[in-house]
Amino acid sequence: MTYVVTDNCIKCKYMDCVEVCPVDCFYEGENMLVIHPDECIDCGVCEPECPAEAIKPDTEPSLESWLTLNANYAKSWPNITQKKDAPADAKEWDGVSNKLEEHFSANAGSGD
Ligand code: SF4
Ligand code: F3S
Repeated sequence: MTYVVTDNCIKCKYMDCVEVCPVDCFYEGENMLVIHPDECIDCGVCEPECPAEAIKPDTEPSLESWLTLNANYAKSWPNITQKKDAPADAKEWDGVSNKLEEHFSANAGSGD
C-alpha cells in the first residue's frame, strides 16, 4: 500500500505535503508532485496537510492509473523535501475538472 497524489494537485501544487513526509518520498514535476510508492511507508500524515485534498491512500477505488503515474514520474522527476511558494493562481485551480487531460505537464520540476 502507498499514498498517491491525484488530479487536484495539478496547478495547485501547494507543497505542504513535502514538509511532513518522514521519508522524503515526494518528487517534483513542473506543475504537480508525485509520491514514490516503493519509498512511502503509509504513515498517512501528508493526506490531511494537502489544502487541495489531492493525496489519497491507494486503497480507495479507481486509483490504479494514478498509482501508475506516481510510480512512473517518481523515477524521473527530482526529489523535493522543502516547501516552495505555491503558484500565485493555485486557488483558482482548486477543483477544476479534467486537469490530467488538459493541464498535466510531464516536464520535471527543479527539486530542492
Ligand atoms: Fe510520506 Fe507518509 Fe505521505 Fe507516504 S503517507 S508520502 S511516507 S507522509
Ligand atoms: Fe500537491 Fe497537495 Fe502536495 S496540492 S504539492 S499534494 S500539498
